[in-house]
Amino acid sequence: MSKQKKIAPSILSADFWKLGEDIELIENAGAHIVHVDVMDGHFVPVITIGPLIVRALKARTKMPLDVHLMIENPSSHIDGFIDAGADYLTIHYEASTHLHREIQQIKAAGVKAGVSLNPHTPLNVLDDIIHDLDLILIMSVNPGFGGQSFIPNTINKLKQLKQILKNKNLEHIEIEVDGGVKLDNIAEIAGAGADILVAGSAIYKAEDPAATIKEMNEILSKLN
Ligand code: DX5
Ligand code: ZN
Repeated sequence: MSKQKKIAPSILSADFWKLGEDIELIENAGAHIVHVDVMDGHFVPVITIGPLIVRALKARTKMPLDVHLMIENPSSHIDGFIDAGADYLTIHYEASTHLHREIQQIKAAGVKAGVSLNPHTPLNVLDDIIHDLDLILIMSVNPGFGGQSFIPNTINKLKQLKQILKNKNLEHIEIEVDGGVKLDNIAEIAGAGADILVAGSAIYKAEDPAATIKEMNEILSKLN
């Protein structure tokens, strides 16, 4: 049986002046997960948010918090985000020296552990860690900014990953895709294998964010 496909709005494109309202809006509209983009000004040029905001969100919503760490030296910050209430914690393959240790650290706390791959990073770098993962986050843009265009090669990468998980009997691992997901490509992306679809600007910059989430859910429900 196929998993329920989930929508994870990225609050990077929300209005931080009224972040609480913007979270309520997506929860009421039927979003499944909140995607939180943490950037450190080193791994990517921009600085965004830290554990303080994650803790505040945790108090405001029942949706799981999906924390995407685009930071160097992730091991120093894993505990801080776990304490703040992350439900999923994802680190970048490209930013980690001791990936196995960090994944174990996340899992030992009962948090879902994810690894993210940049568009140029091949899937086979995960060969020796894949069995330990709960989530694989495939970047479909270069990390750092919302509002970029979906990189078409990601479709092949998703299909390959889906096949790898099937061959290895690891289909419980969730495949997430992040960047450039819109109403007009979400069907193709989900059809290629993505279980969790992150969308920032497509939702928060839409004229009617709630209607956009509902429309996305309708499209996904036809694929399930
Ligand atoms: C990019 C972030 C994304 C971003 C996606 O570095 O990881 O989560 O918010 O934004 P959109 O959906 O606008 O491409
Ligand atoms: Zn992200």
